[in-house]
Amino acid sequence: MSATKRKRETESKTSHDDLSGFSGAEVQYLQSALKLAREAGAVILEAARNPKSIVTKSNSTDVVTETDKRCEDIIVGQLKSLYPKHKFIAEESHVENGVYDFTVEPTWLVDPIDGTTNFTRAFPMSCVSIGLAINRKPVVGCVYNPYSDEMFYAISGQGAFLNGKRIKTSDKTAINGAVVVTEFGYERGEAGIDLMLGRLRKLLRANIQGLRSIGSCAINMCYVACGKLDGYYEGHDKFQGPKPWDFGASQVIVQEAGGNLIDFKDGSPFDMTQGRILCCATKALQAQMLDVLKE
Ligand code: IPD
Repeated sequence: MSATKRKRETESKTSHDDLSGFSGAEVQYLQSALKLAREAGAVILEAARNPKSIVTKSNSTDVVTETDKRCEDIIVGQLKSLYPKHKFIAEESHVENGVYDFTVEPTWLVDPIDGTTNFTRAFPMSCVSIGLAINRKPVVGCVYNPYSDEMFYAISGQGAFLNGKRIKTSDKTAINGAVVVTEFGYERGEAGIDLMLGRLRKLLRANIQGLRSIGSCAINMCYVACGKLDGYYEGHDKFQGPKPWDFGASQVIVQEAGGNLIDFKDGSPFDMTQGRILCCATKALQAQMLDVLKE
């Protein structure tokens, strides 16, 4: 598909994103994020149709492709020209050896493809994740899965939406019968494996109804936001665990849908830089999951 055709297709879909229910300065930021998520989504689909174009780099578990970089250039390039004073924390650039500077300035948190491993295997569970944090608090979020054409978005204090319809979390309050999603990240040391398996054993003993591992932190959280799943947890520490670009957008979406996030090490308030998330549909379910997961 030519760049012009892709742009036209993106513009026509973007015109369906009705933001008339939103107000305030954040609306323009959300509008930009939606447009760029659709544009990057079209690049992802185009590459997925031509698997030979998918070049894998990095180690055997944590992969990155040329398409990640291309999408990030599209998103960050355009956001920089629209908002030259804003800062950026984006997965494939601006992050040296896992070190990033997260200040109180307006900061875009960008993961051009969350679920890169899925993308390299044409497993249709990857998304573009674009969030904006102000004072280190995410205020705008947009997560787009181009395979399913699911566009999740939210502005802090103004609700969360999926393809134009308001969403809310499930009302599940008991761990018994809950459907839980987790990821195994990139940790492959014996101690890390024991920790992850120990948590699974405890969850199964608590009689959860189902366990999923979808391969994308952002999609997991959006699925908790719209009630398809009841709880998501992942991580160990700031090196082994989800990063602000993975959940910066979905954090606003799930919170606006009624969900709650905490650090499952000890139940303390969620800290974006610690690499541990427990995100649940209700606080009651979260308290029960915390009992099972805390270290
Ligand atoms: C990863 C995915 C994966 C999760 C990791 C993330 P990436 O993002 O969300 O499911 O386990 O914590 O880093 O590398 O596909 O962008």
